Amino acid sequence: MPYLDNSVNVAAQKTALITGASVGIGRAVALKMATKKINLVLFDIDLDGLKKVQNETESLGVKTLIYKVDVSSEDSVKNAVNDSYKTFNRIDILVNNAGIWRGSNDFLDTSISRWKSIIDVNLFGVVYLINAVLPKMIKAGYGRIVNVASVAGVYGNGGMSAYSASKGAVISLTKALAKEVAKDGVIVNSVSPGLVSPSEEDNIDYFDLSDRCYMGRTGTDRENADAIYFLCSDEVGYVVGQNIQVDGSRRLL
Ligand SMILES: NC(=O)c1ccc[n+]([C@@H]2O[C@H](COP(=O)([O-])OP(=O)(O)OC[C@H]3O[C@@H](n4cnc5c(N)ncnc54)[C@H](O)[C@@H]3O)[C@@H](O)[C@H]2O)c1
Repeated sequence: MPYLDNSVNVAAQKTALITGASVGIGRAVALKMATKKINLVLFDIDLDGLKKVQNETESLGVKTLIYKVDVSSEDSVKNAVNDSYKTFNRIDILVNNAGIWRGSNDFLDTSISRWKSIIDVNLFGVVYLINAVLPKMIKAGYGRIVNVASVAGVYGNGGMSAYSASKGAVISLTKALAKEVAKDGVIVNSVSPGLVSPSEEDNIDYFDLSDRCYMGRTGTDRENADAIYFLCSDEVGYVVGQNIQVDGSRRLL
């Protein structure tokens, strides 16, 4: 293990970087990782939200660094990743979860600036993060990358052309990159949530009834986090370059 920083007692522990970690699925992933004793690096534009999550994860016994980072800023991503290496000198797991999805507009009512901001965050945000961590993963011969996409990227959601296109691109990127780096020990997959419970709900097991899927309810943050964690674990085994839908068997699109 050539990349340990002995000044911090993290030698035996993995480190996971999670973006968009202040609420919802990202927070649930951070809590799940903390229960598995994985140290954390959390990015979000909402620093107050991150501070609350940091309190929760540190109370579960893991060191947690938080950074106010807009993932669509390549420089901010690079600077924060490099700063986190000063403490942990390793990022074993990357969960690209930050995304913008709220709002619905018909294609002709979607401005080009709206298109660009969605693609900047949802696609380039993923690209910048992977660029920042992949070289060390390849050098270490170990890495797990999970990109949070969406069923919109699989089926296309009416009224959400830009969002659907951005998440479709994330799924394709996942499949292509997985092929390039599988032999380096870096396993890349994506998770596509269906309808998820409101991320403002603190209870990660909260759900509403919904007719959008055959299970008849929304998916919880915990259910998404559990699927993401599996793909980040050593039990992922031979599951490589897949897009796993966590959608209760989607019914309406
Ligand atoms: N909620 C759903 O129904 C649903 C369905 C399918 C896919 N998803 C995807 O799941 C992911 C998480 O969604 P959610 O609903 O749990 O959370 P959310 O949309 O409520 O929050 C996402 C988080 O990302 C952060 N964020 C937004 N823009 C950012 C940026 N530029 N840089 C850094 N952080 C940023 C937000 O502050 C927030 O903490 C997203 O990628 C979303 O597209 C969500």
